Amino acid sequence: MHAAAPAIEFRDVVAGYGEFMILNNLSLAARRGAITLLIGPNGAGKSTVLKTLFGLLKPRQGRVLLDGADVTGAAPKDLLAHGIAFVPQGRNLFPQLTVWQNLELGGITLGRRLTHARIPAVLELFPRVRERLHAQASALSGGEQKQLEIGRALLLQPKVLLIDEPSIGLSPLVVADVFRLLRRLAGEGTTVLMVEQNVKSALKVSDDAIALESGRLVLHKPAGELLADPHIERLFLGSAAAV
Ligand SMILES: Nc1ncnc2c1ncn2[C@@H]1O[C@H](COP(=O)(O)OP(=O)(O)O)[C@@H](O)[C@H]1O
Ligand SMILES: [Mg+2]
Repeated sequence: MHAAAPAIEFRDVVAGYGEFMILNNLSLAARRGAITLLIGPNGAGKSTVLKTLFGLLKPRQGRVLLDGADVTGAAPKDLLAHGIAFVPQGRNLFPQLTVWQNLELGGITLGRRLTHARIPAVLELFPRVRERLHAQASALSGGEQKQLEIGRALLLQPKVLLIDEPSIGLSPLVVADVFRLLRRLAGEGTTVLMVEQNVKSALKVSDDAIALESGRLVLHKPAGELLADPHIERLFLGSAAAV
């Protein structure tokens, strides 16, 4: 690890699906211990960036670096070992299993003993989830399910947390809780890369903002600056600016 290297770096990354390239020579960097917000219109390639970082897509060209180490083309399990965790968009629990079983599966790479040792601290963050430990995951509210997903990722004590549109289907209060938690994690040194359509409230908890358009970086600046600039807001936030 190089102290001066960014936590996350893309260098001229080309990636996509089949013959169809979505990221076009994309270069970006995210600072360690900061929340970087990834914004841009639908289809800009935001989720593709997260999938590429987690090894679900292999770059056709370019390099991906974590803490200065080249991890281009690494498989998800190797990236987990690098301390990267991913909370994808939508519902990603095993719905017919209990809360507890979902947590146990989240720690499968840690082994049972370590997983069990870490579960209480994770549940501490989510009291509503803790109360429903033996309920089926599908019986939880949308907000509780998302909290459980985040908790499952935190079992790994990730250095880098990738989180894709966490606010979808959540009440404003739960969203505020989730954002507060991300802020706290960043304060403890976790690097957070978040995609979020709820742009205004997300900018308020973020340190930096990166905007993509057609798989290219069109803007990278402090979140506060973007929040304060109505012109930029119209350009990049689209309908989300009304939120
Ligand atoms: N699994 C897939 N197979 C083929 N094309 C995909 C797949 N996932 C996404 N795409 C396409 O890639 C483009 C970028 O998608 P995505 O990264 O999900 O955008 P965003 O998250 O910014 O809305 C879109 O045109 C989308 O249709
Ligand atoms: Mg997306």
